[in-house]
Amino acid sequence: MNEVALNIDGVAASVPEGSTILEACRSVDKPQPTLCYLENLTPVNACRVCVVEVENNRLLVPSCSRPVEEGMVVNTDTERVRHSRKMVFEFVASSVQMDLVDEETREWMDYYGADPSRYGNPAASSLDRDSRHPGHHPIPDGSEAANVHQPIKVDNDLYVRDYSRCILCYKCVEACGEDAQNSFAIAVSGRGFDARISTEFDTPLTNSACVFCGNCIGVCPTGALMFRSEYEMRKAEIWDEDEQSVTRTICSYCAVGCNLDLHVQDNRIVKVTSPIDHSITDGHLCIKGRFGYEYVQDLGEMASTPIDIVLARARTT
Ligand code: SF4
Ligand code: SF4
Ligand code: FES
Repeated sequence: MNEVALNIDGVAASVPEGSTILEACRSVDKPQPTLCYLENLTPVNACRVCVVEVENNRLLVPSCSRPVEEGMVVNTDTERVRHSRKMVFEFVASSVQMDLVDEETREWMDYYGADPSRYGNPAASSLDRDSRHPGHHPIPDGSEAANVHQPIKVDNDLYVRDYSRCILCYKCVEACGEDAQNSFAIAVSGRGFDARISTEFDTPLTNSACVFCGNCIGVCPTGALMFRSEYEMRKAEIWDEDEQSVTRTICSYCAVGCNLDLHVQDNRIVKVTSPIDHSITDGHLCIKGRFGYEYVQDLGEMASTPIDIVLARARTT
């Protein structure tokens, strides 16, 4: 494959034709913030936190999707870029609960001096987000920060949806759709600030086209989609990642042989993920690999669900 030469912040870079600016930045040790980008998904350019300046381009360009061109001159740390990224982080963090995002995102927010609190105290949680119509969003009076806070959706035993934490990155939509599962159970509904991820007609997951592969949970960057086991353990205040070990193994259900990372706390599997750098599965699983782990747990407790067991243990400790 042909190599493409470009310049990034004054540093010469050379990457294979077809690479993105983000990949080129990473190749010369210049990481960029991302929210909607993930290596195993098609870029959707939803968040714009990865934007950079490209010489002779009028607009800032999303580095996660723009392919490199020969002779391109890219600047990733200009005043314009820093200001744009700061605003994206502030808008997102003032309207969405971001307490479960990863350390890297927090560090980027600090780096750009993002201060979501300057938009005011968050407005009260809303009960009608799922029934809002385009153009009917009330004009805010500016005294409180408009936000997407709403009750958590708990409608099945396997995972919960807490859209107060949803930054509309579209990753779950991509994983549920063409990039992995092809179930198309969820999509974006509504417009503008009232846009939200939804099943068809906001039906419960159990009545939707969802096949409970959990690939949406695997790609969600904010904890908006969460294993029911993790949700219940967090609620009982016994979720402790410092006490968890992660063991890689192979799913035993079928001949595909997906890699599984078993997250174990207190000698019980509390959730299952899959490495995204796997050439066959790209980190995606089916319902059996993702959720069908109870058969390896303590046989004496098999009569109970993992949630029952976790809560029973929490009550006795
Ligand atoms: S639920 Fe998670 S993955 Fe889906 S759009 Fe919201 S933040 Fe992104
Ligand atoms: S996760 Fe599903 S597809 Fe992968 S090996 Fe297990 S049963 Fe087969
Ligand atoms: S990470 Fe590039 S647009 Fe979101």
